Amino acid sequence: MWKPDRHSKHPIYRQIVEYLERSIACGELPPGSLLPSERKMAEQLDVNRSTIVQAYEELRASGLLESAVGRGTSVSRTKWGLTPSHTPNWRQYTEGGAFMPNLPLMRRIREVVRHDANLIDMASGELSADLFPNELVQELLREQPFTEHLGYDHPQGSPALRTTLARFLSRRHGIAATESSILITSGSQQSLYLITQCLLSPGDAVAIEDPSYCYSLPMFQSAGLRICRLPVYKDGIDPEDVARLYREHRIRMVFLNPNFQNPTGSILSLTKRRRLLEIAAELRIPIVEDDPFSLTSMLPESPQTLKALDKDGIVMYIGSLSKIAASGLRIGWLAAPQSVVSRLADARQQMDFGLSIVSEWLAEQLMRSGRFEDHIIHLQMALQQKRDEMIDALNKYLPDAVTFDLPHGGLNLWCKINRKVNDSRLLEEGIRSGVVFVPGTVYGSEEGYIRLSYAKPRLEDIEPGIRALARALLGQSAVR
Ligand SMILES: Cc1ncc(COP(=O)(O)O)c(C=O)c1O
Repeated sequence: MWKPDRHSKHPIYRQIVEYLERSIACGELPPGSLLPSERKMAEQLDVNRSTIVQAYEELRASGLLESAVGRGTSVSRTKWGLTPSHTPNWRQYTEGGAFMPNLPLMRRIREVVRHDANLIDMASGELSADLFPNELVQELLREQPFTEHLGYDHPQGSPALRTTLARFLSRRHGIAATESSILITSGSQQSLYLITQCLLSPGDAVAIEDPSYCYSLPMFQSAGLRICRLPVYKDGIDPEDVARLYREHRIRMVFLNPNFQNPTGSILSLTKRRRLLEIAAELRIPIVEDDPFSLTSMLPESPQTLKALDKDGIVMYIGSLSKIAASGLRIGWLAAPQSVVSRLADARQQMDFGLSIVSEWLAEQLMRSGRFEDHIIHLQMALQQKRDEMIDALNKYLPDAVTFDLPHGGLNLWCKINRKVNDSRLLEEGIRSGVVFVPGTVYGSEEGYIRLSYAKPRLEDIEPGIRALARALLGQSAVR
């Protein structure tokens, strides 16, 4: 990190002014970015606070910085033009490009979760650290040294992992896939991205569930797709709505998360699955089955996948290790007709030349190991315990204030708040009380719903987290 030169004849505060001017000019500090407080900056640069006060004062006078009570000091948004004329207009560049920014509520949630380790995180759709198979990974690393070749990966992903996955998909989900009809991806997110970018064109209409995880992704808007909504009921979407959306909008693809849907936790009934496949076959509309949660099932048997029921080659099946083992490995898969897999593999080559062979190797060791099955059983029991803890706490602290359906898998509880609330205000109130969750509007629902993850907080933090939520909802003094 840059520090002023104490031996220079140039005054220290001037050195700091020039350093900040350079950082602003080269775009390291874009317009609107928040600077550390005077005290923090003084600590970072090892100078007196009064030196920083003088430097900030000079930059404020020249219009490069602005300060407001309660909001601190930031780079001016309006004086961007003051930067030297040979500097590119970075603001224009950063506002351009094909990617829409993430939703403001999601950015806010990610920011507070990153910066405040004391917040109880019921927002992140992730396993807590103790639910990852850390010990198993350590054992596998001790037993099996990594001796793979270190060159670029196969365009469809490691052949060994694809072979193991084909067996896994057949054993665990009744899906008949071969090594050549599987693409390894860096998570379900990349599978969704490749599908929206490569198989669809701007202006195409697609159907997604309402509410839906897909709605939280600007990815669909970035691809220029028109989004049509399929309302989600207790037993999933209504297949007749797919036929209606085809008649009205000529939808070209359907995106579904039929098992423990994110965020509602609902399961698409078997009768509806069969009817949906009939309709999709009749209209020749492909279905994307996004299935990150079926192995988190607390039911005696996991629901049957659409892909296993599909006799006409309609379904593109997406899965990943994120919600069952390790989100940070970034390993996902897509099983689809071979022509589709080849097209997506070709596109992925253009993006990144393939995946990390180390992650793939580890994923293969993990999924091939008999002990992976034990891990899944342990995970299912631990998630059930956490879900029950959350339900007990909700019944204790918010018996009349929220209603929910019992989820039998997945990582989340979808709660309806039985009073009128403003989503972003409730989120801020929650953060002040020490808990963070996702307001339902992020998933496209109307106001008055929240998604609470029971997977991410530690078991012992679930009750205090719900107590904090109760304080946010009912007022600080109403809850002890
Ligand atoms: C329904 C659903 N699909 C896909 C993803 C993306 O997961 P990943 O890319 O980590 O596999 C998520 C993540 O929360 C999800 O909830």
